[in-house]
Amino acid sequence: MEFFLDTADVEEIREIAAWGILDGVTTNPSLIKKSGRDFKTVVAEIAEICDGPISAEVTAMDTAGMLEQGRALKADLPDNVIIKIPCTPEGLAATKVLNSEGIDTNVTLVFSASQALMAAKAGATYVSPFIGRIDDTGADGMTLIAEIMETWSNYDIITTKVLAASIRHPTHVLACMQLGAHTVTMPTKIFRQLMSHPLTDKGLEGFMRDWAAVEAAGNA
Ligand code: E4P
Repeated sequence: MEFFLDTADVEEIREIAAWGILDGVTTNPSLIKKSGRDFKTVVAEIAEICDGPISAEVTAMDTAGMLEQGRALKADLPDNVIIKIPCTPEGLAATKVLNSEGIDTNVTLVFSASQALMAAKAGATYVSPFIGRIDDTGADGMTLIAEIMETWSNYDIITTKVLAASIRHPTHVLACMQLGAHTVTMPTKIFRQLMSHPLTDKGLEGFMRDWAAVEAAGNA
């Protein structure tokens, strides 16, 4: 069970990393744009904060370009950076080659079990099905996670981890874990929501108030 952050905001990554349970970080071109920072600089900084896999995405559309970018990212960035590749035929070919070179990959923009299977066949380290974006179309994203996990269960040989992405609310995370997904990547807001409960806050407030009375009575 791995919990990843889906952001390129280093302050948010520092906040969650301090909780001690952060296993990795995913970025994408849109998240890099939102950060307003230089791509390699921000990914290098993230890789220093979190020692788990940090996904950095290639932007070439052809296999040769993806390979060139993927190899350059591996050469220039810390060892824990892995290469995120779109789920296209060109991306599949790049995944196969990078896998043969010992470079870990995350095949992204997966919207069907057949795409996930093809990525696994190419030797992807992770496949990223996008739950929320499927829900947005009126279909059920969680059905895709169930289909992939069921398919995986037929083949011991598949080592590709299922990285549930495009997470929109805490129940997505619990549902993914109940289906046996290996990894979930989520925005900081969801991390915070997973840990928050009004009764915890209320209970703690009561304990602190009573403890102050114990101290005031000289009984601490
Ligand atoms: C995953 O790696 C993607 O960066 C991400 O989960 C996309 O989520 P979105 O649909 O909220 O943009």
